[in-house]
Amino acid sequence: MAHTHDGIDWTERLIALRRADEVDAEFNRAVAERLVDSLAPGGSPPVVVDIGSGAGGMSVEFARVLAARGGGRVVLADAVDELLAAAVERTRGVAGDAVRVDGVHVDAADEGLPDVLPAADLVWASRVVHHLPDQQKAIDRLARVLAPGGWLAVSEGGLATRCLPWDLGIGEPGLGDRLTAARDVWFRQMRSEMPGSVRLPVGWTSALAAAGLVDTYSFSFLIDHPAPAAHAVRESVVDWLSWMSGVGEDGLSESDRRTVRRLLDPDDEAYVGARDDVFVLGASTVHLGRRKE
Ligand SMILES: C[S@@+](CC[C@H](N)C(=O)[O-])C[C@H]1O[C@@H](n2cnc3c(N)ncnc32)[C@H](O)[C@@H]1O
Repeated sequence: MAHTHDGIDWTERLIALRRADEVDAEFNRAVAERLVDSLAPGGSPPVVVDIGSGAGGMSVEFARVLAARGGGRVVLADAVDELLAAAVERTRGVAGDAVRVDGVHVDAADEGLPDVLPAADLVWASRVVHHLPDQQKAIDRLARVLAPGGWLAVSEGGLATRCLPWDLGIGEPGLGDRLTAARDVWFRQMRSEMPGSVRLPVGWTSALAAAGLVDTYSFSFLIDHPAPAAHAVRESVVDWLSWMSGVGEDGLSESDRRTVRRLLDPDDEAYVGARDDVFVLGASTVHLGRRKE
């Protein structure tokens, strides 16, 4: 297993991350357009760095947007080689000749991070900072990757994703809320057990300001796949349930665990992937700050 600070086997997560990227592509594209369009016009073609690039969903969208705007560079940075290689390949597949795509193996908790990355007009870090021991130091470090005037965009938090009807007809109603509660307990434990873990006692825009960034603000966007959902969305519901019940296992009752086993069994009549009433509804928040010119 590649070394990260969180004890998670990210290589094993590749297929689920990729599926989520594919399903959420239209929402990610809108965010990539908004961020690229907010960069100062003129000057040299923009450099976008994607920290913790995962399966590459946002890098793909950045590359598409930059290609449509005349070119630029996308640099993917991740701690896990298997993910990085797959993500770079996907991004190169859409980039065209005007967009340069590079992959850099990094530990985003390493103080030398800014030395191995180009000065960026936009640093995008989605759902990675909370996997690092000292989140304020991580933000400080990401701020040092910025070119003067560049934007740091940290996507963290939002609203917990909902996928299941309240009453599934098996087990106790309200499973979705109990999964979220169990996941939250795991999350606290994951953070507290991380070697060198330090609490971030402020919200994200305050952390960006503490890193010396200006013009801080946030926006949120909806992930909305209503029922009846396409096959790919149902598959991503299966992924969501596997992940939530896996990390939250200790916090679930025996009755809920039994229900989850049936929902995840493709041979069971209760298989969640065969239901036409599942959906994906969530919201992600992006927090931004700009380095002074
Ligand atoms: C939850 S995934 C997020 C992927 C993608 N950014 C997204 O929002 O879908 C976390 C990613 O951060 C990477 N990661 C975890 N710890 C890291 C570290 N210390 N340095 C760099 N990347 C790391 C993982 O390999 C994984 O690709």
